Amino acid sequence: MTRFDPSGPLRGWLRPPADKSISHRAALIAAMGEGETEIGGYLDAADTRSTLAAVEALGAEVQIGERIRIRGAGLRGAGPATIDVGNAGTLLRLLPGWLAGQPQGDWTLDGDDSIRRRPVDRIAVPLRAMGAELSCREDRLPPLQIIGARLHGTTYEMPIASAQVKSCLLFAGLLAEGVTRIVEPLPSRDHSERMLAAAGATVEREGDAVVIHPAERLEPGPITVPADISSAAFFAVAATLVEGSDVVLLDVGVNPTRTGLLAILERMGAAIEVEESGEQGGEPTARLRVRPAPLRGTEVGGAEVPLAIDELPLIALAACFAEGTTTIRDAAELRRKESDRVATVTAALTALGGRVEATEDGMVIEGSGGLRGGAISSHGDHRIAMLGAVAGLASAEGVEVEGMDAAAVSYPGFEADLGSLLGGGAR
Ligand code: S3P
Repeated sequence: MTRFDPSGPLRGWLRPPADKSISHRAALIAAMGEGETEIGGYLDAADTRSTLAAVEALGAEVQIGERIRIRGAGLRGAGPATIDVGNAGTLLRLLPGWLAGQPQGDWTLDGDDSIRRRPVDRIAVPLRAMGAELSCREDRLPPLQIIGARLHGTTYEMPIASAQVKSCLLFAGLLAEGVTRIVEPLPSRDHSERMLAAAGATVEREGDAVVIHPAERLEPGPITVPADISSAAFFAVAATLVEGSDVVLLDVGVNPTRTGLLAILERMGAAIEVEESGEQGGEPTARLRVRPAPLRGTEVGGAEVPLAIDELPLIALAACFAEGTTTIRDAAELRRKESDRVATVTAALTALGGRVEATEDGMVIEGSGGLRGGAISSHGDHRIAMLGAVAGLASAEGVEVEGMDAAAVSYPGFEADLGSLLGGGAR
């Protein structure tokens, strides 16, 4: 159990850890590339270490130092391997796109207990439509077996907005004969499109479709990874809720397909100054300054959901402190994350005195003037663990989090960084 007591203000500045989504893609695209790619600021966390181990097992050479250097295996050069993806859903969904189109070889992908509950039919169905040979448990769950095959381009209308599925098909499209067209029901994060284009691939947006052409080779230049807005989000919400706070977060990636949290918090009344600070790795970055503000309830749904999908648990937490009702809908995908986040967020916030009702595709939260406190379990989900910590700081009586170690999946230094903003306060 790790205890987070009601705290004094969070003050000061920090650069949150590197973006997890972008780090996974950087390692994978470097491994698919020719020659050596240098990655600056690669995320050092459990999930992204799984990706480095995976690309090494496939034949890329990985040198870990201040910057990561990856000598690629080449677009058609992945060697056969058994891959342990650990807890990394993004690795589980992206990698098969590359492997399915290899001229030969076979691969097995498996991971931890949480991974074994993450659906892979969402990639298996469209990959098979491109000619891929793969099988999985009960036709929808890992372990996933892949045999390299000749792929052909297709048009695929994704039933859900998922950047993981889109990215998987973009990788497969590079190896397919003909053009692959992926139609998104709603825009989702476009890091893969940006990075593939920078590596020389032909990838275009046509209305609500992303179109990718086959490629002979990829030549990624050096990549710098910005700070992760999904990690910055914990401090942004903490500083909004804890009186007297004043926090500056540096180099935060503010790709418009990731900034749903900022828009939602601003609508709720939060005081967040966003000052664009340039570009890193083809992604816009900003300096965020966050100070406390009274919040009001809001409605979240539709196109905003994919732009804030990993931050919706934090919106639910903030909503407990807001005046009025907050409704989150169209977010059934939350149930398929590292935990069923509709269930785990509802259980956690209710245990702490919140008034939260789970719905099929989201939550309804009645502002209850804050949270009393109590004990919660992370359910092995990194974002629920860190949510518990933030809840503790803002609560009346403190929060005990069981399974705080899960934070290491995306943010191993979370407690230390929180401690530095509190002036050494977190225990
Ligand atoms: C991710 C996409 C999202 C997100 C996940 C990371 C990515 O998943 O929840 O944490 O890096 O592409 P979906 O694409 O399944 O919505």
